[in-house]
Amino acid sequence: MPETPVLLSEQEAVQEKFKEMIRETLESVFRSFSDGSAFSGINPYELREKICNLGFLPQEGKGFDRVLEETEKVILPHMLRTWSTNYMPHLHSPVLTETICSELIIACFNDSLDSWDQGPAATELEESMVHGLADLFGFPADKADGSFTSGGSQSNISAIIAARDWYCARRFNRDVKKEGLPPEYSKLRLYTSEISHFSMDKACHILGMGYNAVRKIPVDSKCRIDVDAFKKMVEDDVAAGLYPFCAVATFGTTDFGSIDDARSMREVCDKYGMHLHADAAYGSGLIMSQKYKERISAISLCDSLTADFHKMFLLPISCSAILVKDAELLKCFELHADYLNREEDEEDGYINLVGKSMQTTRRFDALKVFMAFQTRGVDGYGKIIDKAVGNASYFYDRIAADPEFLAPVEPELSSVVFALKSGDEVNKKVRRQLLSEGTVIGQTVMDGRVMLKFTLLNPNLEPAKIDEIIVRIKELGTQFA
Ligand SMILES: Cc1ncc(COP(=O)(O)O)c(C=O)c1O
Repeated sequence: MPETPVLLSEQEAVQEKFKEMIRETLESVFRSFSDGSAFSGINPYELREKICNLGFLPQEGKGFDRVLEETEKVILPHMLRTWSTNYMPHLHSPVLTETICSELIIACFNDSLDSWDQGPAATELEESMVHGLADLFGFPADKADGSFTSGGSQSNISAIIAARDWYCARRFNRDVKKEGLPPEYSKLRLYTSEISHFSMDKACHILGMGYNAVRKIPVDSKCRIDVDAFKKMVEDDVAAGLYPFCAVATFGTTDFGSIDDARSMREVCDKYGMHLHADAAYGSGLIMSQKYKERISAISLCDSLTADFHKMFLLPISCSAILVKDAELLKCFELHADYLNREEDEEDGYINLVGKSMQTTRRFDALKVFMAFQTRGVDGYGKIIDKAVGNASYFYDRIAADPEFLAPVEPELSSVVFALKSGDEVNKKVRRQLLSEGTVIGQTVMDGRVMLKFTLLNPNLEPAKIDEIIVRIKELGTQFA
């Protein structure tokens, strides 16, 4: 029996060896850190050199034990420890323990979601989860549909493709899938807030419309779309011979967590025959909170939505879904191949999910959502979300009352953008210094000013720890002023 088995199998010796590998791997992970910091603080040059010295592809394999040893020594100590309460820069979450086990199951079986015969249970579970999610967000379960994707960017581009094809069919009687783009294509316009996620711009570039097709709507003092400006922009564009085909309401902007007024946006979209997409990559997590879910209730008025489970829901990367109110919208991805998803099989009840996705080979990410939902239930998840939102309010209240800080926007979700009043350079230095101490916070720009940012997702973060970080930021602020 070789030292490192090539594959899993029914043989007991293989299974015993594999269990040992898993146990050793976990021990390496746990040995690689010894305090609560989020990062070792190593500088990029030193880390680059260490990584380069690892080598690339040896002629003779070293065997698992030796590779794990080197990985533990060189790589693991400098990985980001997302579970640390000192980590708060991005919409990048720690992960629920049960879903690390889900990842192990996913990797063991390696089922793929393109055709039923590549993942029978995976296909059926994804279907069941997609319809459950549609219902949860207020889409009609019998008409709605969806698909898991690699992340919010892919969910957003999927929605924009669906919206474009739907609009071109209705407006120009054009089947984009078969005939390609209509001559009016360069006049299509998509509307989204000026602080929405850049995946909208990327999508419009990839779809051949270019960044110019993205109309950026100004935001109000709470960082939400100015609906009057939106109406006026659409009216002016229609008058100028352009074709508004889609609007995107953000339910949780990346920096501020602000939630656009999708109810008012719906009226404009109905008037002009536009698709309304909800980018709820961030804010979708509020659905689990009895206390805060009303804040995102207008999602149900949208035609499609993006929900990321690798953000507020605390699942391992990657895990996102695109959901559509009308299953017809996802037909834009349907295509049959003799070798993969034969129509005759589908007539006999074998579902081939490749027909609803941009991807072909696709991970069984739905298992993570299933295991987390079942493990935590609404109550357990509600507590996690409430803690994140509550922590953001606590932090905001503390700094809004402190004359050394600026705190321009009260949070609706779990991020707070703020700054020391002592200026851009001081704020930049504070963030860099904290990074070298193992505390990772965010940095952004608002109205031309450098701002710091806390994105609070970690349910283990306690107010006392928030107070501690505020004290340290103020100390560093004085040092660098
Ligand atoms: C509002 C919003 N939409 C979309 C995305 C893109 O998600 P992903 O990074 O999963 O592609 C993000 C990422 O932070 C986001 O904040």
